[in-house]
Amino acid sequence: MARVVIRGGLLVTAADEVEADVLVEDEKVAALAARGSAAAEGWTAERVIDATGMYVIPGGVDAHTHMEMPFGGTVASDSFATGTRAAAWGGTTTVVDFAVQERGGSPRAALDAWHEKAAGQCAIDYSFHLIMSDVTAGALGEMDALVGEGVTSFKLFMAYPGALYSDDGRILRALQHAERSGATVMVHAENGIAIDVLVEQAVAEGRTAPRYHGETRPALLEAEATHRAIALARVAGGPPLYVVHVSAEEAVRELAAARDAGLPVFGETCPQYLFLSDEELARPGFEGAKYVCSTPLRPEGHGAALWRALRTDDLQVVSTDHCPFCFAEQKELGRGDFSLIPNGLPGVEHRMDLLHQAVVEGRISRRRWIEVACAAPARMFGLYGRKGTVAPGSDADIVVYDPAAEQVISAANHHMNVDYSAYEGRRVMGQVVTVLSRGETVVERRRWTGRAGWGTFVPRATCQLVG
Ligand code: URP
Ligand code: ZN
Ligand code: ZN
Ligand code: ZN
Repeated sequence: MARVVIRGGLLVTAADEVEADVLVEDEKVAALAARGSAAAEGWTAERVIDATGMYVIPGGVDAHTHMEMPFGGTVASDSFATGTRAAAWGGTTTVVDFAVQERGGSPRAALDAWHEKAAGQCAIDYSFHLIMSDVTAGALGEMDALVGEGVTSFKLFMAYPGALYSDDGRILRALQHAERSGATVMVHAENGIAIDVLVEQAVAEGRTAPRYHGETRPALLEAEATHRAIALARVAGGPPLYVVHVSAEEAVRELAAARDAGLPVFGETCPQYLFLSDEELARPGFEGAKYVCSTPLRPEGHGAALWRALRTDDLQVVSTDHCPFCFAEQKELGRGDFSLIPNGLPGVEHRMDLLHQAVVEGRISRRRWIEVACAAPARMFGLYGRKGTVAPGSDADIVVYDPAAEQVISAANHHMNVDYSAYEGRRVMGQVVTVLSRGETVVERRRWTGRAGWGTFVPRATCQLVG
């Protein structure tokens, strides 16, 4: 049996901050003990990791990534190999990615295809949601089997007509079926039909620069769709509803009202909505294309509302929606017409650091950092216990984090397979030092020791935040 002791650190979980040593046996956390008591406990180990002056935290759980996703006429530039490696470098040890059902295709075929893409490639553990883009009777009929295989969440799109979009009837049917099968429904809440009118008008009038991406996707149409999704979920009997990439203050109000009414409604936001604004979209030339994602970056005030909602638990999760496209070849597809810019931002590597910077700035507490980045996403998607905490019996997904290290985020030193950083030049306090994935050291004192294929598929239980 391989035994590792991590000693001398401050163990921070969503529930506690304790000066504790951690004993790892093979892939699991075996025991915790008061700092310095390893000898008294009779612990022996082949390896000791000195975490003096460091935080010892659970590996991050990023519940929203799109590795090598076909989208907008191209494919997201991070493969499962490069994207999970970059995630690990940034202290994330589990990603939940999305298998995409094709129009005319089946969820089963989508899941099989995504298993094939990821198998043997991932440096850390991974799991899948399923994007349902063709809500047929056959597709709904497959939902139960998928839930049984640990794919317990299904994303429906109210945006992107003609591509991933589902109308209200289809969304209602999916919600009804989820209610029966115990699944969670995730929604991309934007009124895509209305947005397409605004986009068409903008392009026809020659408003084709990246900034019009934001202007044609108003906050009101995010709030309206959020309200509608909540109403449909209620009509369906109330399966857990998770609204992805929330960016608008008005949408947060809809979530808060639903939660005040006791509904099982949850929301996620992403670092880009917390740290960036629509000013990035208005950068001169075509530079703004780097910041085209949906929902779009919003004016400054929305960020403050998102931070508040993270503190009050009206938003529960911060994930990245990592969906990178290279500026040089891929964002370029929309030069002269913003509607053709592939939607998505890179970010899987810097979520833990950016949120730690928010701790440094007093926006959230240290424990809330771990809650929104590790524990809550794990609970939301049926991973908690194994993932999202450091406790006896949990997977030994552990990060030794130096809160005093300073780093400058840059494409010159990041590990994501994309030619720009959305946070280029940003100085943050805090850096990952050592990362264990199921007991295996994948980053050791900022040296890569991981390997493609170490990560395994993790079947998930249903939502642990309800019932
Ligand atoms: O712009 C985004 N968010 N791209 C990824 C696909 C999605 O809608 O999550
Ligand atoms: Zn069924
Ligand atoms: Zn989306
Ligand atoms: Zn996404």
